[in-house]
Amino acid sequence: MNRTLHAMTPAPILLLGFLAAPAASPAAAADDGAPTFSRDIAPILQRSCLRCHRPGTASPMSLLTYEQARPWARSIKRRVASREMPPWHIDRTIGVYEPDPSLSDEEIATVSAWVDAGSPRGNPADLPAPIDFPDGDAWEYGEPDLVVEMQEDMVVPPEGPDLFVSFLAETGLTEDRYIRWIEVKPSKAGRRTVHHTMVYAIQDDADYVGEDFFERDDDPNRRDREGNPVGSLLIEYAVGNTGDIYSENTGKLLMAGSVIRFSGHYHSVGEEIRDRQRIGFGFYPRGVVPRRRIVSTRLFAGLPGSTGWLNNELSIPPGADNVRHDGYRVLDRPIQLISFQAHMHYRGKAMELEAIHTDGRRELLTRIRNYDFNWQIAYPYKNPPVFPAGTVLHVTSYHDNSENNPYNPDPTAWVGWGNRTIDDMAIGWTNFVFLSEQDYEQHTAAAATGAGAGAGGD
Ligand code: HEC
Repeated sequence: MNRTLHAMTPAPILLLGFLAAPAASPAAAADDGAPTFSRDIAPILQRSCLRCHRPGTASPMSLLTYEQARPWARSIKRRVASREMPPWHIDRTIGVYEPDPSLSDEEIATVSAWVDAGSPRGNPADLPAPIDFPDGDAWEYGEPDLVVEMQEDMVVPPEGPDLFVSFLAETGLTEDRYIRWIEVKPSKAGRRTVHHTMVYAIQDDADYVGEDFFERDDDPNRRDREGNPVGSLLIEYAVGNTGDIYSENTGKLLMAGSVIRFSGHYHSVGEEIRDRQRIGFGFYPRGVVPRRRIVSTRLFAGLPGSTGWLNNELSIPPGADNVRHDGYRVLDRPIQLISFQAHMHYRGKAMELEAIHTDGRRELLTRIRNYDFNWQIAYPYKNPPVFPAGTVLHVTSYHDNSENNPYNPDPTAWVGWGNRTIDDMAIGWTNFVFLSEQDYEQHTAAAATGAGAGAGGD
């Protein structure tokens, strides 16, 4: 590994100088106008990196302090300039998102200039106040009303391929409850090995599986590779994304008798690790039904007319580098769109979400242009757009089955839809809120006076 090389390149004498007398060192003063860690870089790291790059997470190193960040300077410049870090794979000119950790061109230039100047520390007095990160063991949003835990340990061997494993656990709920917040906690050691976990509620949820809406009982995708029903998505845990708290009067439904399915993707880290995940729920008070209910659901792209309304057959010929599939979904009631997230496998390349308005106007909402299956990122709209019944949500997927795709396990294979990672998928996960006609009217009235909706892209 060439990491140590990076660490060696900068002048070590200056480093020692900092330790002895920080403010007196020439580079520390940085009076040549070069950006300094304390003044210019630390705020960028705080905003866009530390969520993941701090001790105890699944990221490779902490960037909390100058001493920790300094050896990675070259690598930071490279990853930031290529926009690999922070992971954010959309066309930034389309839509406005919040939170949006991506860096502006100016910030990238600042990071590059800092590294080129020898990564000076600057005056520690310029450092922003440290962020008070929650202790990974405490619940972030308060005491949960319900904690559901995996019934056995996941044992991750020291080495080997990534593992995809599902665990089921009863909630024991005897009545329906509405979720105000959710938080997922792998065990402390487990946090290093959990790449991500999709957490589902298996429950008979008509709004989710309703035939008029998205799914049907004979939908093969309602079962995962182990034959478990898929259920409604509650949250996706990943490094930097450990919990969700919904705004006032907004929630997800967890039904009586529901079963939680933890669908984990684990990564070996050189020693055997045991993990047992828990999910904590904060509920609305008993009997309270929040006005806005969030549903996580899927839009499929597939071959034209493949299975009628459920459009999920793919045909990805060998060697083809830009294979397009489309999916269309007519909304049967007004919704507000909260976020969009692509799910494909190794050949996934790009995905777009477009609204075809009732007057025929087309509006591109999000373009994921360099999809990377290693990162499952939900893109939350800053001003979640509102659509009336009759709007068509159109999702377009692109797959690259050529040898130019570095992840492609076999460019000579024809690839179709399937659950195995060597098969592929084209799913746009969306978080919706169903709106009553009255709420919809309110939103459009607010938008007309300039206060409301719109994807925020224009
Ligand atoms: C969502 C979590 C997340 C965020 C936010 C994030 N990173 Fe990362 N970063 C990771 C993970 C996980 C890896 C290891 C996997 C990889 O290399 O892609 C990584 C890898 C890296 C590497 C490569 C380390 C090596 O092994 O060479 C650098 C450098 C880096 N990140 C810098 C940054 C910087 C700088 C920021 C902010 C501008 C940032 N990251 C934001 C999670 C994150």
